Amino acid sequence: MKAAAGPLWRSAAALGLVAILGTSLLTGIDRLTVDRIAEQERRMVLEQLGQIVAPDRYDNALHDDYVTFRDERYFPQGQEVTAFRARHDGRPVAVILRFDAVDGYNGRIRLLVGIDSDSRVAGVRVVTHRETPGLGDGIERAKSDWILGFTGKSLTSPAPSGWAVRRDGGEFDQFTGATITPRAVVEAVQRALEYFEMNGPALFDAFPDNRQETAS
Ligand SMILES: Cc1cc2nc3c(=O)[nH]c(=O)nc-3n(C[C@H](O)[C@H](O)[C@H](O)COP(=O)(O)O)c2cc1C
Repeated sequence: MKAAAGPLWRSAAALGLVAILGTSLLTGIDRLTVDRIAEQERRMVLEQLGQIVAPDRYDNALHDDYVTFRDERYFPQGQEVTAFRARHDGRPVAVILRFDAVDGYNGRIRLLVGIDSDSRVAGVRVVTHRETPGLGDGIERAKSDWILGFTGKSLTSPAPSGWAVRRDGGEFDQFTGATITPRAVVEAVQRALEYFEMNGPALFDAFPDNRQETAS
């Protein structure tokens, strides 16, 4: 009996070791995947910031000049919003809000909504989404021009009733057989403009998140 305990113990230890190694490997792969997705998204945001506000319009490090906040009234489900600020000679040029439209057909649609200091839309881009290829993915700049239709619009142009897809009586096209996706984006852009109307100046004044405030 005593002789058999040795090999049994060794097998158990070996199994335990394999389990630990397997778990560590999976955790490592998971971590790498999460990091890679975050890096891809970061690159996408950097590229698109420059498409929304032309680089010659600002002279600050736009991607480094940001604040984050939450405001359930405009940006639901407790999400964190990032506001990148474009300035020229220290004066406000535009803000680009990164947030999610939460009611896409397949969940959240991450958007960049640029708003010029005169409260007009500078441009909108989709960062990530899970909408159906061929139906809802016309929101991507690479797939269609639809997203460019927001540029120059404001809360008063079109009038509030126009801030909807045509199916709902508004001015924005829906896609063939797909109204849910564009409806979610139109509503989200309108909410971003409403937020800016109430909080625009404060957004530009807020101290950047990524810098230490020094005591004066
Ligand atoms: C498999 C499947 C995937 C769909 N994907 C989308 C989508 O990504 N976006 C969307 O707006 N509608 C999508 N739809 C259609 C919606 O269910 C809904 O019918 C449509 O948005 C309503 O638009 P309509 O009134 O123009 O038909 C999908 C439907 C099916 C069956």
